[in-house]
Amino acid sequence: MRNLFAAFAVLFLAATTFGAGITKKPYGKMPDGTAIEEYTLTNKSGMTMKVITYGGIVTELHVPDKDGKLADVCLGCSSLEEYREGHPYFGAITGRVANRIAKGKFTLDGKEYTLATNNGANHLHGGKVGFDKVVWTAKSDEGETQQALRLYYKSNDGEEGYPGNLKVSVLYVLTDSNSWMIEYSAVTDKATPINLTQHAYFNLAGHASGTIHDHVVTIHADKYTPGDETLIPTGKIEPVKGTPFDFTEPTAIGKRIKEIKADPVGYDLNYVLREEKVASTTKPVATVTEPKSGRVMKVLTSEPGVQFYTGNFLDGKQKGKGGVKYPQYGGFCLETQHYPDSINQKTFPSIVLEPGKTYVHRTVYSFSTVK
Ligand code: GLA
Repeated sequence: MRNLFAAFAVLFLAATTFGAGITKKPYGKMPDGTAIEEYTLTNKSGMTMKVITYGGIVTELHVPDKDGKLADVCLGCSSLEEYREGHPYFGAITGRVANRIAKGKFTLDGKEYTLATNNGANHLHGGKVGFDKVVWTAKSDEGETQQALRLYYKSNDGEEGYPGNLKVSVLYVLTDSNSWMIEYSAVTDKATPINLTQHAYFNLAGHASGTIHDHVVTIHADKYTPGDETLIPTGKIEPVKGTPFDFTEPTAIGKRIKEIKADPVGYDLNYVLREEKVASTTKPVATVTEPKSGRVMKVLTSEPGVQFYTGNFLDGKQKGKGGVKYPQYGGFCLETQHYPDSINQKTFPSIVLEPGKTYVHRTVYSFSTVK
């Protein structure tokens, strides 16, 4: 009888540990007392994603390897205090306009706007208090085959210098087929630029596994938008062929990284994605494979560009999860988005959202394995 109970207890434990669903717990408090929540989404195969309402940050993403062993593949901090002390956008929602706006200035409908500048003379990732640093409200939805978390934020007219009251919603879905799907949507009451993305840093060997030089990357882009030394696009669109930026064939990140002429050295550029891949629900715009673990990540998106960034600014000083110090090239980002400085570049696809229209951006990070 006792054994039977013991067996039952073990079974129950297994079910609660690996059962699909969503749990929620307090993560800390903002200085004004606002409570920050942490949501844990778990799917049927045990893949787990943790999200906090501060910045919509994905703090952990546990993904199986070729033997079914889980590892946390996203870089991050250990606590709200550490995130608030400052970090390079680990796992965060970035906006109102992700990436750079030259000198923080643009003209829309004949009016000049001046934004907060926070990257030398330029505006980066929404400004001093971008969407990565605000508190989102969340609503969770447990499903039969997927777990969903919807985050909401209202950005007021004039916030960081942007026009219009903007209502933003970001939906994170963890499916039983090991996909992390994201749907961003927004409406405004005045024309405004908008370009939302997710700034997750991935290391498919595990977040504390050193550099990502061995990861093999394919990006379906024949062209890119070259930038000046502050990474503001020159406005030209140039071929990747014959440059270290060519990832049209699977190539290890570390193979040509030293050939890049930049300070710091590394990938930090926007790719012009092949049109036939954009908005495809089956054809990824990028694929990354980590040979040792066999983990594969495919990226599908509705957006025309992707910023490929290899953690060039990481320097071993940033406090990471569990006391880890992330080295330079300790993670990579594939930030699906419109091109940098689009609001000032008339030849780039427009990022202006008009009242009465809805901004929609869909991206999927889909995980699988190879032996
Ligand atoms: C983006 C930018 C990089 C850098 C990181 C954050 O990827 O393109 O230049 O600013 O964000 O450190």
